[in-house]
Amino acid sequence: MNQPPRPHPETGTAIRDQFPLLQSGIYLNNNSTGAVPQGAEHVLTRYWETLRTWRDDAWDGWHDGLQKYVDGLSAFIGAPPGSVITDANLSTLLVRVASCFDYQEPRNRVVTTDLEFPTIPFIWNAFRRYGARLDVVSSGGPRFDEEALLRRIDERTLLVCVPHASYSSGDTIDLARLVKHAHDVGALVVVDAFQTVGIMPLDVTALGVDFVLGGAHKWMCGVGNAFLYVRPDLLPGLEPAATGWQAGDRAFTFQPSTGWAPDVQRFAGGTPFPLTALISQVGLDLLGGVGIETIRAHSLACTDRIIQRAEAAGIPVVSPVESWRRGGVVCLDVPEGEKVKLRLAERNMICSWRGYLRVGPHIYNTLDEIDEFMDALGRVSREDRR
Ligand SMILES: Cc1ncc(COP(=O)(O)O)c(C=O)c1O
Repeated sequence: MNQPPRPHPETGTAIRDQFPLLQSGIYLNNNSTGAVPQGAEHVLTRYWETLRTWRDDAWDGWHDGLQKYVDGLSAFIGAPPGSVITDANLSTLLVRVASCFDYQEPRNRVVTTDLEFPTIPFIWNAFRRYGARLDVVSSGGPRFDEEALLRRIDERTLLVCVPHASYSSGDTIDLARLVKHAHDVGALVVVDAFQTVGIMPLDVTALGVDFVLGGAHKWMCGVGNAFLYVRPDLLPGLEPAATGWQAGDRAFTFQPSTGWAPDVQRFAGGTPFPLTALISQVGLDLLGGVGIETIRAHSLACTDRIIQRAEAAGIPVVSPVESWRRGGVVCLDVPEGEKVKLRLAERNMICSWRGYLRVGPHIYNTLDEIDEFMDALGRVSREDRR
């Protein structure tokens, strides 16, 4: 029999001490913005020192720092060297992917779901101008209808663009099954993993997935940085029209390029901004040191506790109660949820509201904090009903 997930024993001390934000309240908002470790302060001080004493060779150190972040991130998600690039946000990188394709009949469909973060439909709707035909599979509720999704992927499908977990419900998709089906009919798969990277295991190579996007400022405990993984054997055939000089084969000679950079660098844009990668390195190192399996076990122990407490209090749970289907967040259907969120924030208990109350614990949260939060939620909800 499987053991129930257990909380990580060190969360009370070593890890928590590295997150000053935790001193100001109970922080369960990691699905929106994760806490950043103390080590970031040192990075900021060093960055200012670089600016204060500026010489152009500072770029050498910054390039090394950017590369170190990309290498660490690649190892974290099982990606080989030369297959991951970073930029300011996920939207920018998804547009570069979208701009690689000619949307010609009969294979011009982009299949997605109605549980996407709003940037996904917004971008694909913009690509209708270039012939993309958007096919949105309705979920009929907070859970993905995976059978309907698979049925809609056929020989007319160019791309499937889905999240690993929904930002609004925490439901996850069985990516291995989806990728296999899509590849069987000749379609490519783009995964938005922003809501899972850092809280759930993700091995892009084992999945065989074609494109994976994610970012630093939620479960990765970083800031202002997103990433794109591209399946290496696809790279030679991909030429993004949304581009910049750093994607060329001679970018670093400052001569006009005659072709594309051979690896994922062809998905670059203009001059990078290294600060956010340097800061995000601190969170990446910390999470890598703990290990994603330990993080997942702790996350499940915390989200199980939220679900047990919600069920005991009669609060409807929107996220899957089955642990294997659940991402890092538990969404609760709380009447007047936005008001309740604000009431909790007045008590320094931080969560978010997107149609449902979203409670997202991370490796640094404890079961005691969860109990305290759920006690307060019960009290605040009762007060509001009076
Ligand atoms: C699933 C998901 N995708 C994407 C984003 C954000 O995308 P971007 O980095 O373009 O702002 C978010 C949240 O901010 C998200 O939850």
